[in-house]
This record gives sequence, structure tokens and C-alpha cells, in this order.
Amino acid sequence: MEESVKKLTAETIASISACKTVSELNDVRVKTLGKSGALTALLKGMKDVPPEKRPAAGKIVNDARETLEQAVSERQKALENEELLRKLSEERIDITIDSPLKNHGGLHPLSIMRNRIEEFFCSLGFVIADSPEIETDYYNFEALNIPADHPAREMQDTFFITENILLRSQTSSGQIRMMEKVKPPIKMLSPGRVFRSDEADATHSPVFHQVEGLVVDKGITMCDLKGILDLFAKKFFSNETKTRFRPSYFPFTEPSVEVDASCGKCGGKGCNVCKGTGWIEIMGAGMVNRNVLKNCGINPDEYTGFAFGCGLDRITNIIYGISDARIPFENDLRFLKQFN
Ligand code: DAH
Repeated sequence: MEESVKKLTAETIASISACKTVSELNDVRVKTLGKSGALTALLKGMKDVPPEKRPAAGKIVNDARETLEQAVSERQKALENEELLRKLSEERIDITIDSPLKNHGGLHPLSIMRNRIEEFFCSLGFVIADSPEIETDYYNFEALNIPADHPAREMQDTFFITENILLRSQTSSGQIRMMEKVKPPIKMLSPGRVFRSDEADATHSPVFHQVEGLVVDKGITMCDLKGILDLFAKKFFSNETKTRFRPSYFPFTEPSVEVDASCGKCGGKGCNVCKGTGWIEIMGAGMVNRNVLKNCGINPDEYTGFAFGCGLDRITNIIYGISDARIPFENDLRFLKQFN
């Protein structure tokens, strides 16, 4: 009897450890410990054991039952744990997996151009400087050598919040803020939104974007201005692009120029894009007016500087061949998707 209990216990323990699932384990348990199980049968056979040996035999069988029940319960815990870990790993979300969503947005053409222009000037050592869209009369006009009665104000009629506070009509206000804060050498680029009380049409908008550039140091000349803008035109149009300066007038620069780039479509021969002239106007520029330097506490006998102001919308529309300034703001997905 003792021998068969030992044998049964050893065999059952081996089967318990071999179980791969809770249901297999249940089968093993029923086969040995169940009502008609092998161990229960041995217990039933107790009546054939001589009475004096029964207590010892009963103990052997009960010990075996306890050992096996414990083994079953331990194995059950282990299997349940394995099961849980398997489920957790199967149901884990892989956050590195490629998204099935293919309809994500892209950058607006103006943002693409703005980023490219910033990158170009940063590579030449310029710093990007933000300045407020809501400005005072002083920064937008007065300090830029445009006093209250100056006729140049007419061209930049903007939106006034009070008599003294307005939506900036040009990013040139950023020059003043920079020169007040930082002493030369200065190399800054200030891109942003500007406002004018214009009706929206193919070439005008009450809100548009400019990129202002300013360099102030000892010995800065117009050659530096021409060199940098020529490089800019070659980078953004083509290597064959030429630039020219035409005399112009801005109160904050002296001398002032309009900068033209040779037409990329006809190569300068004249076409519909350049209206037959062979040239396309790309920005205004000049040498910073002595009065402007003085207004910012910079000695114009010691330092000189150049500045330029370029219409970001205009450059973007020329480069992408967009014929109407309103199109980029109509949120037409057929248009916007072309830039994804
Ligand atoms: N602020 C001028 C405008 O809005 C553009 C401009 C011209 C900026 C010449 C400059 C500059 O810095 O030197 O028309």
C-alpha cells in the first residue's frame, strides 16, 4: 500500500508539473483526487487493511492527498500568472509602430518659406528676433524717422487701437526694439505678421507677412547688403539669378533701394511673370538712416548698418507660382495638399 501511494504521488507530481493550462491541471486533479480518482480509490481500499495497520495507512494516504493538493494549488497559481503575462504582452500597444492614419496635415507654404528663409539667414550668423504685433506709434513710425506729419504714413495706413497703439504696419519696428536692447555687432532677422487697412485683392491683404533683416557693425557698407541679398536670390531662385538695386525712398534708410531679381521664367528677356521687364521686385532695403541709429543710442559716426524688408507672401507666391494672394488663405485642401 505504501509503495503504491508513493508511486502514485510521484507520477501525479510529474503530471502536475507537465500541465500547460489550468484545464489540463484540472483533469489531472480529478483523475487523482476526484471522487473516482486513484487516490480516493486507495482510500476506499482501506477496509481491506488489517485494523491495527489502518491508522498508519490512513496517515500515508492523507499526507499524500495534502502534498498533491498543495502541488496542484501551486501549479495553478503559476499557470494563472503565466496566462496573465501572456495576455499583457499580447495586448500591449506598440507606440513605435507606424500610424495607419495617412491623412495628417502638412506645413502651409508660407511656413515652409519662412522656415527656409530663417534657416538661410541663421546659417550666415543672423539671430531670429520676435517683436510685438500690437505696437506703439513710436516703434512703428516715430523711431523709424516717420514723424506724425510724414507723408510716408499714408502708404502704411493701419488699424489703430488707441491714438498711440496700433497693429504694426511693418516688421521694421523690430529693428528699433533690437537696437535699443543690444549694442552692435547686430545681425537679426525678424519675421512676422503685419497689418494695413487694405481691401483684399489679388495683390493686397489687410494681413500679410514680412521678414525684416538688420545688420549693424563698424564698417558695414552697401557692398555687404548687395552680397548677402545676391546670395539670397541665388539660393531661393536659381544660381543664374542676378540682382539689381534701383534708387528708392524709405524714411528709415539712406540711401534706399528696391531690390530686383532677374526673372526666373524668361531669364531676363521679358515675359508675363515679370510684365515684360525681365526683373521682379523682391524687397526694399538700404543703409540704416543716421537718425534711426541715434534714436536707439547708437553713434552713427562709429557704426553703420543695412536693413531690408521683404514680403514673405510675395516671395512665396513667386516661388510657387501662386497667381492670387488670396488663394493660400482659402483653406482649400486641394491647394494645401500640394505642399505635403
Ligand atoms: N518696411 C518697409 C515696408 O513695409 C520695407 C523695408 C524697406 C524694410 C527698406 C527695410 C528697409 O528694413 O530697409 O515697405
